[in-house]
Amino acid sequence: MTTVPISTTTQNRKKVTTLALRSKKAAGEVISMLTAYDYPTALALDQAGIDVILVGDSLGMVVLGYENTLPVTMEDMLHHCKAVARGARGALLVGDMPFMSFQVSVSEAVRNAGRFLQEGGMDAVKIEGGRERLEAVQAITGAGIPVMGHLGLVPQSVNQLGGFRPQARQASEARRLIEDALLLEQAGCFSIVLESIPGRLAERVSTQLGIPTIGIGAGPGCDGQVLVTHDLLGLFERFTPRFVRRYADLHAQMAQAFEAYKRDVEAGLFPAEEHTVEMTDHEWNELVKELNNAV
Ligand code: KIV
Repeated sequence: MTTVPISTTTQNRKKVTTLALRSKKAAGEVISMLTAYDYPTALALDQAGIDVILVGDSLGMVVLGYENTLPVTMEDMLHHCKAVARGARGALLVGDMPFMSFQVSVSEAVRNAGRFLQEGGMDAVKIEGGRERLEAVQAITGAGIPVMGHLGLVPQSVNQLGGFRPQARQASEARRLIEDALLLEQAGCFSIVLESIPGRLAERVSTQLGIPTIGIGAGPGCDGQVLVTHDLLGLFERFTPRFVRRYADLHAQMAQAFEAYKRDVEAGLFPAEEHTVEMTDHEWNELVKELNNAV
């Protein structure tokens, strides 16, 4: 197997910009996006050439073990954004604005969005919601910060939606979603995530918008696709949404590795000679002599 040093591939990668995503849409090229919350995952995603890395507030569920994303704070997000920014050089980095960081006032929304760039090392932010977020989107983009929208199943409103359920399956809701998408585009969003909505609705929205749509559980008609990386890797065992394709079963592999380590330690098979540092016989004999003289 030939391995390419990670540092070489990431250093050579051209930085993905919001304009590059638009060009991809225009050229009919599909955009790839995944989530990351730490340095090694960011490094691996960047090496794989993933276009966009989202530091999603899904970290509350898949990394921090909360029931939903509501407890995630700005400080949690910034901590993980900094780690991701240290690992990824080429991908466009998007920080997810957590619950209550943009809803209270437009000025708080702008200040918190700014922290994602200034402190977190992100290139852009993502905000959940439609027409009720237009003022915040305009103010944040007005401050020079690119904003990605998020419509359909918006997990921060899980209590209002009555659970993690598909959205916009009724014609009236679907019409409202199309209107919201157009309004977000007009307000300045550079892209919109469409989560858990009917495939033909997502396709319709994607053709109506000039900006790229990124689908999750929204079918193949979007301009790009995103998944939560822990779902794709089989690292999050609590539940797997229907729209996820698992590309690995790392939870099972981790469990096997931990059990093998425990067995080796208990049987005295680890550490072996090659894992142990030694000193020369001369130095050892010197030490023994000194110790014997001391008693
Ligand atoms: O928080 C997240 O990971 C997200 C994606 C599911 C789009 O919002």
